Amino acid sequence: MSFDGYKDKIEEGDTVILYLTITQVYCIKAEPKTLNKKGNLIENVFQTPYGALKCAELIGKYYGSKISLSKGWGYVLQPTPELWTITLPHRTQIIYTPDMSMIILQLELCPGSIVVESGTGSGSLSHGLIRAIKPHGHLYTFDFHKTRAETAQEEFKDHGLANYVTVTHRDVCENGFGDDLDNKANAVFLDLPHPWLAIPHSLKSLKQTGGRLCSFSPCIEQVQKSCLMLLKLGFQEIQTMEVLQTQYAVQQRSLPVVNLDFLKSEKDGTETEKKDREMIKTITAIPPPTQPGHTGYLTFATLPPIWARNLQISLNQDDINDAD
Ligand SMILES: C[S@@+](CC[C@H](N)C(=O)[O-])C[C@H]1O[C@@H](n2cnc3c(N)ncnc32)[C@H](O)[C@@H]1O
Repeated sequence: MSFDGYKDKIEEGDTVILYLTITQVYCIKAEPKTLNKKGNLIENVFQTPYGALKCAELIGKYYGSKISLSKGWGYVLQPTPELWTITLPHRTQIIYTPDMSMIILQLELCPGSIVVESGTGSGSLSHGLIRAIKPHGHLYTFDFHKTRAETAQEEFKDHGLANYVTVTHRDVCENGFGDDLDNKANAVFLDLPHPWLAIPHSLKSLKQTGGRLCSFSPCIEQVQKSCLMLLKLGFQEIQTMEVLQTQYAVQQRSLPVVNLDFLKSEKDGTETEKKDREMIKTITAIPPPTQPGHTGYLTFATLPPIWARNLQISLNQDDINDAD
C-alpha cells in the first residue's frame, strides 16, 4: 500500500525500494514469510551483494533510513513511479521515465483526468499515469494478454492503487475500448504493435470537447501509418518526437587560456598582443562519448472539439488525395 501517498514508517505488506548503489536498486516486500518454488511458506530473506536481508526486520523502520547488511549498508525508500520503473518485474518492454515525463506533459494530464491506455504490459507507464491523475481521475487500461492484465490488476491492488484504475482484458484493435467509455476520455495512450487500428476506437472514447492522443512506436513505418490515420480522422497538431536523454559528466579539466594583455613598447609606445597562453583548472561538463540509442517515437495529436471536426476531416481528405 506504499504507492498511494507518503507515510513515515514501513508497514507489513509494503513494497519497499532497497537502494544500495545507483546501479543496485531493488524492490522487496516487507513481509516476514514468502512462498518458495515448491509452494511452501518460508522466511522471506532477500540476498544482496552486501549480505542477506530479513524482510521482516524492515517492518516499523522509517522510510529513508539506513539499514545494515553483513558486508555493507543500504537505504530503504518509499516507491515512486520512477523507482518502480527501474525495479519492476519485466513482463514486456516498458516505458521509461524520460518518455513517461514527456507523455504526461504532452497529454496535459492533471488530477481529475480520465485516461485510456493500451497495452498495459508491465504497468510501468500506468503507475506514472495514475500518480498524475489521482485522486479524482481514472485510468482505464487494456491488454489482450490475459495473464498480463490479471497480474497488473493484482499489482495495482497490492500497491493501494485499485481505486484509480480499471484493468480490462481485451483486444482493443478488434473490439475497441467499449461503449461505456464513449466521449469520456481526456487522453488516450497507445503502446501497441498496430496502433493505427486502435486510433478509430480512440476517437470514440475521447471527449466531444476534444482531447490528446499519444502513440509510442519503435519503428518509423508504424509512425507513418498512425500519422496517416490520425490525419484522416481529423486529428490536428500531429507531432512525432524522440526523447534522447544526454548525461553530461562534470569534471575538472586543465584548459589553455589566451592571455589578452598587451605589451607596450617602451621605445615607441606601440602595443602588441601577448601571445602566451596559460593553463587554468576549471570545472567543465563533458558530453558522453556515445549517445543513448533509439528507444521509440512518440507521436502526439490533438482531437479538436466536435463542432470543428467535420470541416477538418474534409480538408484532410483533400490533402491525402493530393498526396496519392
Ligand atoms: C510493450 S507492452 C506495453 C508496455 C507498457 N506501456 C509499460 O510501460 O509497461 C505492449 C502490450 O500491448 C499488448 N497488446 C498488443 N496488442 C494488443 C491489442 N490489440 N489489444 C490489447 N493489448 C495489446 C501486449 O500484450 C503487451 O502487453
